[in-house]
Amino acid sequence: MFFVFEGLDGCGKSTLIGNYKAYLESLGRQVYVTREPGGTPLGEELRSTLLTIKKNADFKISPRAELLLYEASRAQHVDQVILPKIKSGITVLCDRFTASSVAFQAGGRTLKLEDVDWLNNFATFECKPVKQIFIDLNYSECQKRKSGMNQALDRLESEAADFHNKVYQSYKDQVQKNPKDWLVLDGRLSPDELLKSLISNLSQLDK
Ligand code: TYD
Repeated sequence: MFFVFEGLDGCGKSTLIGNYKAYLESLGRQVYVTREPGGTPLGEELRSTLLTIKKNADFKISPRAELLLYEASRAQHVDQVILPKIKSGITVLCDRFTASSVAFQAGGRTLKLEDVDWLNNFATFECKPVKQIFIDLNYSECQKRKSGMNQALDRLESEAADFHNKVYQSYKDQVQKNPKDWLVLDGRLSPDELLKSLISNLSQLDK
């Protein structure tokens, strides 16, 4: 089993993943939580390159280079972690995957969707999650949540509202295009309600 969690920064992915992991473990299932970019030593180095804001003004990452770095992290992650874990019967919960590249690099950066799709397939050998879970919370609501947290913004988080609105729209378009691949949860629910909704929706899959 392989599940992917998607949404804007601040939508509540990490909390839901942690709660779902605890729930599955209480049923005796072996669960592995991982994330993108990251999840392997190479991926974590790429994560730091991608997300840290550098003081050197000459340090730039063009949109195509950015896409390739996310895909490099993904290819390593699939080979080294995701496929081996799935093969050994462990349930993998992944914080972001291919749909993030569609949302951020095609939607946000306006790269060509065909290019992103092709690179996603190349990086994953078409290893697909059973379901992608989209926590639906728009940018202004995510911002409201994050405003109380007083955290430093990373390179992607410091993009303008227009960028994040395009990312959000891309998620909505992806869900509309392939509804069977997605489970959409209302991001305004409390953490407990979100977990309940996830469990009841995913339990239908076993039937
Ligand atoms: P995330 O782990 O959600 O960061 P945070 O700790 O702030 O929640 O994701 C890292 C950032 O990378 C996030 O802004 C989304 C972006 N991203 C892409 O632009 N493309 C991708 O393919 C992936 C996986 C993430």
